[in-house]
Amino acid sequence: MGKKIWFLTGNLGKVKEAKQHLQKLGYDVEQLVVDVEITEPQADNIKAVAEAKITQALPHLPNENDMLLVEDAGLFIEHLNGFPGVYSAYALNTIGCNGVLKLLAHLESEDPVMNGQMRSAEFQAVAALWTGEGILFGNGICPGWISQKIDGEGGFGFDPIFIPFDLDAIGKPLAPGNYGETSTHGATFAAVELDKKQLFSHRMRALNDLISQL
Ligand code: IMP
Repeated sequence: MGKKIWFLTGNLGKVKEAKQHLQKLGYDVEQLVVDVEITEPQADNIKAVAEAKITQALPHLPNENDMLLVEDAGLFIEHLNGFPGVYSAYALNTIGCNGVLKLLAHLESEDPVMNGQMRSAEFQAVAALWTGEGILFGNGICPGWISQKIDGEGGFGFDPIFIPFDLDAIGKPLAPGNYGETSTHGATFAAVELDKKQLFSHRMRALNDLISQL
Protein backbone atom coordinates (compact mmCIF):
# COMPACT_ATOMS: atom_id res chain seq x y z
CA MET A 1 0.00 0.00 0.00
CA GLY A 2 1.36 3.43 -0.94
CA LYS A 3 1.51 6.61 1.09
CA LYS A 4 -1.92 7.75 2.23
CA ILE A 5 -3.49 10.94 0.91
CA TRP A 6 -6.73 12.15 2.51
CA PHE A 7 -8.82 14.10 0.00
CA LEU A 8 -11.10 16.69 1.61
CA THR A 9 -14.10 16.97 -0.68
CA GLY A 10 -17.79 16.21 -0.64
CA ASN A 11 -17.66 15.41 -4.33
CA LEU A 12 -17.42 11.67 -4.99
CA GLY A 13 -16.80 12.34 -8.68
CA LYS A 14 -13.57 14.11 -7.74
CA VAL A 15 -12.54 11.30 -5.35
CA LYS A 16 -13.05 8.75 -8.12
CA GLU A 17 -10.92 10.77 -10.54
CA ALA A 18 -8.10 11.37 -8.05
CA LYS A 19 -8.11 7.74 -6.87
CA GLN A 20 -7.93 6.39 -10.39
CA HIS A 21 -5.08 8.72 -11.27
CA LEU A 22 -2.95 8.75 -8.10
CA GLN A 23 -3.19 5.01 -7.45
CA LYS A 24 -1.16 4.49 -10.62
CA LEU A 25 1.52 6.71 -9.11
CA GLY A 26 1.64 4.71 -5.88
CA TYR A 27 -0.62 6.82 -3.62
CA ASP A 28 -3.59 5.54 -1.68
CA VAL A 29 -6.36 8.16 -1.87
CA GLU A 30 -9.25 8.22 0.56
CA GLN A 31 -12.07 10.73 1.04
CA LEU A 32 -11.80 12.78 4.25
CA VAL A 33 -15.12 13.62 5.81
CA VAL A 34 -14.97 16.01 8.77
CA ASP A 35 -17.77 16.80 11.21
CA VAL A 36 -17.21 20.55 11.20
CA GLU A 37 -18.21 22.96 8.47
CA ILE A 38 -15.35 24.00 6.20
CA THR A 39 -16.07 27.49 4.91
CA GLU A 40 -14.97 28.89 1.57
CA PRO A 41 -13.61 32.44 1.86
CA GLN A 42 -14.83 35.10 -0.56
CA ALA A 43 -11.72 35.16 -2.69
CA ASP A 44 -11.13 36.14 -6.29
CA ASN A 45 -8.84 33.20 -7.02
CA ILE A 46 -9.15 29.47 -6.45
CA LYS A 47 -5.68 29.15 -4.88
CA ALA A 48 -6.73 31.24 -1.88
CA VAL A 49 -9.84 29.08 -1.47
CA ALA A 50 -7.77 25.86 -1.53
CA GLU A 51 -5.27 27.21 1.01
CA ALA A 52 -8.04 28.27 3.42
CA LYS A 53 -9.55 24.79 3.27
CA ILE A 54 -6.22 23.10 4.09
CA THR A 55 -5.79 25.32 7.16
CA GLN A 56 -9.28 24.50 8.43
CA ALA A 57 -9.07 20.76 7.80
CA LEU A 58 -5.58 20.09 9.11
CA PRO A 59 -6.64 19.58 12.75
CA HIS A 60 -8.97 16.81 11.51
CA LEU A 61 -6.36 14.71 9.71
CA PRO A 62 -6.77 11.13 11.06
CA ASN A 63 -3.02 10.46 11.22
CA GLU A 64 -0.38 13.15 11.35
CA ASN A 65 1.94 11.17 9.06
CA ASP A 66 -0.62 11.20 6.26
CA MET A 67 -1.00 13.88 3.62
CA LEU A 68 -4.03 16.15 3.09
CA LEU A 69 -5.29 17.10 -0.35
CA VAL A 70 -7.82 19.73 -1.32
CA GLU A 71 -8.67 20.79 -4.78
CA ASP A 72 -10.66 23.67 -6.09
CA ALA A 73 -11.84 24.19 -9.58
CA GLY A 74 -13.99 26.51 -11.59
CA LEU A 75 -15.33 27.10 -15.06
CA PHE A 76 -14.21 30.41 -16.58
CA ILE A 77 -16.21 31.52 -19.64
CA GLU A 78 -14.47 34.11 -21.76
CA HIS A 79 -17.55 35.86 -23.11
CA LEU A 80 -18.87 36.26 -19.54
CA ASN A 81 -15.60 37.81 -18.30
CA GLY A 82 -14.64 34.64 -16.48
CA PHE A 83 -18.03 33.95 -14.88
CA PRO A 84 -18.86 31.65 -13.09
CA GLY A 85 -15.17 31.24 -12.04
CA VAL A 86 -14.87 31.23 -8.24
CA TYR A 87 -18.69 31.19 -8.09
CA SER A 88 -18.96 27.95 -10.11
CA ALA A 89 -20.46 25.83 -7.34
CA TYR A 90 -23.05 28.53 -6.59
CA ALA A 91 -23.87 28.97 -10.28
CA LEU A 92 -24.27 25.22 -10.73
CA ASN A 93 -26.70 25.06 -7.79
CA THR A 94 -28.73 28.04 -8.93
CA ILE A 95 -28.82 28.56 -12.71
CA GLY A 96 -27.25 25.16 -13.52
CA CYS A 97 -26.00 24.01 -16.90
CA ASN A 98 -29.20 25.19 -18.59
CA GLY A 99 -28.79 28.68 -17.16
CA VAL A 100 -25.26 28.92 -18.54
CA LEU A 101 -26.50 27.81 -21.96
CA LYS A 102 -29.17 30.54 -21.83
CA LEU A 103 -26.56 33.20 -21.04
CA LEU A 104 -24.73 32.22 -24.23
CA ALA A 105 -27.77 31.49 -26.41
CA HIS A 106 -27.26 34.58 -28.57
CA LEU A 107 -23.80 33.31 -29.56
CA GLU A 108 -24.96 30.17 -31.33
CA SER A 109 -23.42 29.43 -34.68
CA GLU A 110 -23.77 26.50 -37.04
CA ASP A 111 -20.04 26.57 -37.66
CA PRO A 112 -18.18 24.54 -35.00
CA VAL A 113 -14.95 26.54 -35.43
CA MET A 114 -16.81 29.82 -34.89
CA ASN A 115 -18.57 28.28 -31.91
CA GLY A 116 -15.27 27.20 -30.44
CA GLN A 117 -14.04 30.77 -30.65
CA MET A 118 -17.15 32.57 -29.48
CA ARG A 119 -18.05 30.16 -26.71
CA SER A 120 -14.54 29.53 -25.42
CA ALA A 121 -14.13 28.66 -21.77
CA GLU A 122 -11.67 26.89 -19.54
CA PHE A 123 -11.70 24.81 -16.45
CA GLN A 124 -9.03 25.82 -13.94
CA ALA A 125 -7.98 23.69 -11.01
CA VAL A 126 -5.66 24.23 -8.08
CA ALA A 127 -4.62 21.22 -6.03
CA ALA A 128 -3.08 21.92 -2.62
CA LEU A 129 -1.31 19.23 -0.63
CA TRP A 130 -0.22 19.34 2.99
CA THR A 131 2.87 17.13 2.97
CA GLY A 132 3.57 17.17 6.69
CA GLU A 133 6.06 19.98 6.27
CA GLY A 134 4.27 22.57 4.21
CA ILE A 135 1.73 23.16 1.45
CA LEU A 136 2.49 22.42 -2.20
CA PHE A 137 0.30 23.83 -4.97
CA GLY A 138 -0.32 22.42 -8.43
CA ASN A 139 -2.13 24.18 -11.28
CA GLY A 140 -4.09 22.77 -14.18
CA ILE A 141 -6.03 24.27 -17.06
CA CYS A 142 -8.32 22.66 -19.60
CA PRO A 143 -9.33 24.95 -22.46
CA GLY A 144 -12.41 24.26 -24.55
CA TRP A 145 -15.83 25.63 -25.30
CA ILE A 146 -19.40 25.52 -24.12
CA SER A 147 -21.66 23.20 -26.12
CA GLN A 148 -24.97 24.36 -27.58
CA LYS A 149 -26.96 21.81 -25.64
CA ILE A 150 -26.71 19.41 -22.74
CA ASP A 151 -24.92 16.27 -23.90
CA GLY A 152 -24.15 13.08 -21.95
CA GLU A 153 -25.07 11.42 -18.69
CA GLY A 154 -21.66 10.85 -17.11
CA GLY A 155 -19.31 13.09 -15.13
CA PHE A 156 -20.53 15.84 -12.81
CA GLY A 157 -20.95 19.58 -12.54
CA PHE A 158 -20.59 21.41 -15.85
CA ASP A 159 -19.35 18.30 -17.69
CA PRO A 160 -22.56 18.04 -19.82
CA ILE A 161 -21.87 21.44 -21.44
CA PHE A 162 -18.07 21.47 -21.75
CA ILE A 163 -16.18 20.29 -24.84
CA PRO A 164 -12.38 20.29 -24.51
CA PHE A 165 -10.17 21.43 -27.37
CA ASP A 166 -8.20 18.61 -29.02
CA LEU A 167 -4.72 17.78 -27.77
CA ASP A 168 -1.58 17.32 -29.83
CA ALA A 169 0.75 14.30 -29.59
CA ILE A 170 2.33 15.54 -26.35
CA GLY A 171 -0.98 16.45 -24.73
CA LYS A 172 -0.87 20.17 -25.42
CA PRO A 173 -4.28 21.75 -26.15
CA LEU A 174 -4.78 23.09 -29.70
CA ALA A 175 -6.66 26.17 -30.85
CA PRO A 176 -10.33 25.67 -31.85
CA GLY A 177 -10.86 24.07 -35.22
CA ASN A 178 -7.63 22.06 -35.14
CA TYR A 179 -7.71 18.31 -35.09
CA GLY A 180 -5.32 16.66 -32.67
CA GLU A 181 -4.12 13.20 -31.67
CA THR A 182 -6.57 13.18 -28.77
CA SER A 183 -10.12 14.35 -29.29
CA THR A 184 -13.63 13.87 -27.91
CA HIS A 185 -14.81 14.54 -31.47
CA GLY A 186 -17.16 17.28 -30.32
CA ALA A 187 -18.57 15.35 -27.37
CA THR A 188 -18.77 16.91 -23.92
CA PHE A 189 -16.94 15.55 -20.86
CA ALA A 190 -20.23 13.97 -19.75
CA ALA A 191 -20.46 11.97 -22.98
CA VAL A 192 -17.00 10.33 -22.87
CA GLU A 193 -15.48 7.68 -20.61
CA LEU A 194 -13.64 8.84 -17.51
CA ASP A 195 -10.35 7.52 -18.93
CA LYS A 196 -10.83 9.89 -21.84
CA LYS A 197 -11.71 12.90 -19.68
CA GLN A 198 -8.58 12.30 -17.64
CA LEU A 199 -6.39 12.94 -20.70
CA PHE A 200 -7.69 16.52 -20.86
CA SER A 201 -8.66 17.22 -17.28
CA HIS A 202 -7.59 20.37 -15.42
CA ARG A 203 -7.69 18.30 -12.22
CA MET A 204 -5.29 15.66 -13.58
CA ARG A 205 -2.96 18.40 -14.73
CA ALA A 206 -3.08 20.08 -11.32
CA LEU A 207 -2.43 16.76 -9.58
CA ASN A 208 0.47 15.93 -11.92
CA ASP A 209 1.95 19.38 -11.33
CA LEU A 210 1.68 18.78 -7.59
CA ILE A 211 3.07 15.23 -7.59
CA SER A 212 6.01 16.31 -9.75
CA GLN A 213 7.07 18.58 -6.85
CA LEU A 214 7.14 15.77 -4.26
P1 IMP B 1 -15.19 23.12 -6.63
O1 IMP B 1 -15.35 24.37 -5.83
O2 IMP B 1 -13.81 22.75 -6.93
O3 IMP B 1 -15.96 21.96 -6.08
O4 IMP B 1 -15.79 23.36 -8.06
C1 IMP B 1 -16.65 24.41 -8.33
C2 IMP B 1 -17.73 23.97 -9.29
O5 IMP B 1 -17.16 23.65 -10.55
C3 IMP B 1 -18.51 22.76 -8.81
O6 IMP B 1 -19.87 23.06 -8.92
C4 IMP B 1 -18.13 21.66 -9.74
O7 IMP B 1 -19.23 20.85 -10.02
C5 IMP B 1 -17.63 22.40 -10.98
N1 IMP B 1 -16.52 21.60 -11.50
C6 IMP B 1 -15.30 21.44 -10.98
N2 IMP B 1 -14.58 20.57 -11.70
C7 IMP B 1 -15.38 20.15 -12.69
C8 IMP B 1 -15.23 19.22 -13.74
O8 IMP B 1 -14.22 18.54 -13.93
N3 IMP B 1 -16.29 19.07 -14.55
C9 IMP B 1 -17.44 19.76 -14.39
N4 IMP B 1 -17.66 20.61 -13.42
C10 IMP B 1 -16.63 20.82 -12.57
